[in-house]
Amino acid sequence: MLGGMCGEPGASPGRQAIPGGDPMPASDAPATYGASTHGLRGDYADMRPDYTVEQDYSTYSDADHDRWKRLYGRQMRLVPGRACTEFLRVVDTLGYDAGIPRFDEVNERLDRATGWQVVAVPGLLPEHVFFTHLAGRRFPVTVWLREEQEFDYIVEPDVFHDFFGHVPLLFDPVFADYMQAYGRGGQKAEGLHALEYLARLYWYTVEFGLIRNGDGLRIYGAGILSSPSEVSYALASPAPRRIGFDLRRVMRTRYKIDSFQQTYFVIDDFGQLFRETAPDFTPLYAEIAGLETFPADTLLPHDHVYEPSRSDDEHAFSRRRARGLQAGPFRERPARRRKFRP
Ligand code: PHE
Ligand code: FE
Repeated sequence: MLGGMCGEPGASPGRQAIPGGDPMPASDAPATYGASTHGLRGDYADMRPDYTVEQDYSTYSDADHDRWKRLYGRQMRLVPGRACTEFLRVVDTLGYDAGIPRFDEVNERLDRATGWQVVAVPGLLPEHVFFTHLAGRRFPVTVWLREEQEFDYIVEPDVFHDFFGHVPLLFDPVFADYMQAYGRGGQKAEGLHALEYLARLYWYTVEFGLIRNGDGLRIYGAGILSSPSEVSYALASPAPRRIGFDLRRVMRTRYKIDSFQQTYFVIDDFGQLFRETAPDFTPLYAEIAGLETFPADTLLPHDHVYEPSRSDDEHAFSRRRARGLQAGPFRERPARRRKFRP
């Protein structure tokens, strides 16, 4: 999808960035939506008709590979215990520690796992091109890497966001099928003037979704997973709402593209996501077209609200407690005092 992104340091890009509630521009030429103040980035001159390009590995400099390694290293320190197990099981098996991945090498593994492929693209894509790729089990990955001054925040999706955030979950069979269903749904929705609803669904699942992982909340949204600061914010900050996934509610909820999310939606597992989005959306689009939309920070009476994850705090707390009980001042001081007791 096309989209202009802008935001604060730490916010992370999604591929689709259509401000919920705004009318969709009808265009199949590259364009940006929303609050973007810059033009499309990337070289669209030499692409094929389906917007794909060759990855020319020789164009990446040593500095690029070094920057990739630092981006990868930073996120890998953050995701254990925070990303969903489906992600964690795969992310360190893809050779990402060696530098910017080769599309061919990732594709060998991905094809064996779920029959998906990644295809190199210059950057953001028109909706119908994006949907066609997903429907064909091809995930478009931006070829270029962010610049050094964008290390903490990048306006649009780059090769790191796409490979790190999106690709590992394409190895999960159920999530992989959801992504293809989404692409087909997008192709259908174009004729129904319903792209804004689908964009919200993508945003609140593929980019910023949370999932219950037995013991607590985890992340599966790529926009969170590739962000150095939203990873812990999304799970533990008391500021945003975390609401049980409800398809109609999601489709009616606008979103912020220029800050951390104010609301996250929580699924039980990818099976739930796939099942609840499987029915024909045509009547649903008609139903919600006449209804109001909700601001990104709304809380509704029927929302199922999840508490922030306390695991970060608990770890810190039990470390403090362990120190206190073993060798801390609480044991030493009374002992010393006893010495001076008559
Ligand atoms: N079931 C949706 C439809 O009929 C397609 C879809 C599936 C859309 C999964 C999004 C995600 O349009
Ligand atoms: Fe994305």
